[in-house]
Amino acid sequence: MRDLTSDTITEAVISTMRDTKDSRLAEIMESLVRHVHAFVRDVELTEEEWARGVDFLTRTGQMCTPTRQEFILLSDVLGVTMLVDALSNRRPAEATQNSVLGPFFRDDRPQPPDAADISGGLPGTPLFFEGRVVDREGAPVAGAAVDVWHSDAEGHYDVDVPGRVDPAMRALFRTEETGHFSFRSIRPSSYPIPGDGPVGEIMGATGRSLMRPAHVHLLIEAPGFQRVTTMLFPSDDPYLDADPVFGVKDSLVASYDTYAADSGPRRGPTDQPYTVLRHTFVLELLPAG
Ligand SMILES: [Fe+2]
Repeated sequence: MRDLTSDTITEAVISTMRDTKDSRLAEIMESLVRHVHAFVRDVELTEEEWARGVDFLTRTGQMCTPTRQEFILLSDVLGVTMLVDALSNRRPAEATQNSVLGPFFRDDRPQPPDAADISGGLPGTPLFFEGRVVDREGAPVAGAAVDVWHSDAEGHYDVDVPGRVDPAMRALFRTEETGHFSFRSIRPSSYPIPGDGPVGEIMGATGRSLMRPAHVHLLIEAPGFQRVTTMLFPSDDPYLDADPVFGVKDSLVASYDTYAADSGPRRGPTDQPYTVLRHTFVLELLPAG
C-alpha cells in the first residue's frame, strides 16, 4: 500500500477496514469513504477549500452547547434529517406523517387536564386546539400520550422568552376514551432558524431564507402504534414552500380557522378574535412480532 494515486487510494482505504467485526459498521464506513472520495473528485476540491471545510466543521462543533445543536441544524438544512425520517418511517398516506422534532422539545413539561390553558399568560391570538387520535380503521385510540409545544406570537419558545423559566406553550395530554384531547393556548408565529453560526453563513451564501412557517409541534405515542413526531402548519403561512428544514407536507397543512370574538364555535370565552384548529391524527400499527 504505497505510491497510492487518486485512482487507487479509495480501494486502499477501504481495504484497511476489512477486519471490522460489526458488519453494519463495515458497510457504512465503506460507503462513506466511497462517497466522500467521489465528492472530492467530483468538485476537484482544492487545498484551500479543504481547509475551509475543516474550519467550517470545527466551528460547527464549537457552536454546540446543551441548548444549541449546530450539527443537527446543519443536518436539517441539508435535508438529511428529513431523509433519515423518510427512510425510517414509511407510512401509508392515510396515516399521519412525520416531520422534524426540532430543538425545543422538553420532557419537564406540565401534564394539565384536558382543555387547559397552556399559554402561560403570554399575549397572542387565543388558539383552541381540538385533536383526535384514531387508528387506520377510524377507531379512537384512548390513553395516547400527546405532547404539544409551540412558539409564541413573536416566534419564541418558552426557553427563549426573556426572563421566563417556567414551561409554557407546552404540555403532555392523554387522549380520552373517545380519542379526543384539547387545549387552549396562543397562535404560534413563523420564526427564523438560528442564523448566527456556521449554518447561518451557508444559508446566506446560498441565498436561502431562515424563516420556518408557523407550526404546532406534536409527539404522539400509544402502545402498539408507531410514534408520530409531527407538526401542523397554517394553510395561509407565507413560508410553507421555503421551509429551511424541509418539514412541510401537504397532509400537515391545516386550516387555522379564525373567528371574531362574538361568533364561531367558541363564542364567549374570549373578547378578541380567536383561532380554532381541529385535526385528526391517524396512527399506524407497529409491525407484528
Ligand atoms: Fe418549532
